Amino acid sequence: MKTEIGIDLTTAAEHLTKGELVAIPTETVYGLGANALNEDALLKIYAAKNRPQFNPLIMHVASFEQAKKFIKDISTEAEQLAAAFWPGPLTMLFNKQQTVPDLVTAGSKRVAIRVPNHPLTLQLLSQLDFPVAAPSANPSGYVSPTTAAHVYEGLNDKIPYILDGGACGVGVESTIVGWNEEGEIELYRLGGIAVEQIEAVIGKKIKHHKKVTDNPSAPGQLKSHYATHTPLYLGKINELLPQFEGTKIFLINFQQYHPHIPKEQQFILSASGSKDEAAKNLFRVLREVDSMNADIILAELLPDEGLGRAVNDRLERAQHIMKE
Ligand code: TXA
Ligand code: MG
Repeated sequence: MKTEIGIDLTTAAEHLTKGELVAIPTETVYGLGANALNEDALLKIYAAKNRPQFNPLIMHVASFEQAKKFIKDISTEAEQLAAAFWPGPLTMLFNKQQTVPDLVTAGSKRVAIRVPNHPLTLQLLSQLDFPVAAPSANPSGYVSPTTAAHVYEGLNDKIPYILDGGACGVGVESTIVGWNEEGEIELYRLGGIAVEQIEAVIGKKIKHHKKVTDNPSAPGQLKSHYATHTPLYLGKINELLPQFEGTKIFLINFQQYHPHIPKEQQFILSASGSKDEAAKNLFRVLREVDSMNADIILAELLPDEGLGRAVNDRLERAQHIMKE
């Protein structure tokens, strides 16, 4: 199948309506979209990404009003968060209505929903009479795409259309929260809305859900997520360097070049020290550094606050050390 890249909403809508896949831009990363109410279309997502069917999909809708058709038991906190952050990079887990197929939720009674903040995709969603299920538009296990070209690299020939909305402004996936049996809010994934922002809206601290994993039913069995092909190690560059003498090293630094490595072998996430800019650049830099034929990549962590926490989370998952 030939993959076209374009900006035509009508073409995108036609493919989706026919049950075909369309890559869609969002403010976080590109998504691989399909009609969330069409099981054949959903199966195509899992096949194109080579994604295990036990890993559920996020459902994208045009508005909170549309979301309400598919969910129940909406808490006051969820109302507050939707009002504060939708459209935007926050995904919430809700008890689902029966109309949501099990293939979206991998059999769970909760569905993950968000309203993405991208003008093209918002317009597309409001034209459709169904929600769009969309995981990140990369082959399972590799770095998420933040441009149409990244999507093309990974899924060329597997999907008919990529809707090109430019480079993603946020650059890391959405933050995911849910509520436990006791009605307490829990964090499932760090992402584009900082935890501090959520805590400010609801007026209390959020705790991490016990098992944070992209692979809920089989933690630790798959290769780590967001992984580069080149082995990546994380830590203080000065402490790491002596261990890798004699190898071709590339660095990913937050703000400054390291004095002992040629500049051509270094990538900076944000020269001005902005954690938001670092998030925006992270996946592009991971892909670029991965194409340099290095022996290893060394990366340093950001300050653990704001979007720095999401960047650190993605770097930790990209490490080539198997973690329990
Ligand atoms: O920013 C984003 O969230 C992007 C854009 C395209 O919207 N999407 C994205 O999807 O990152 P994906 O599939 O790459 O990551 C979704 C995560 C997975 O870790 C999945 O296990 C979790 O959300 N998830 C989805 N539905 C869930 C559910 N019902 N219960 C628990 N976790 C769920
Ligand atoms: Mg993903």
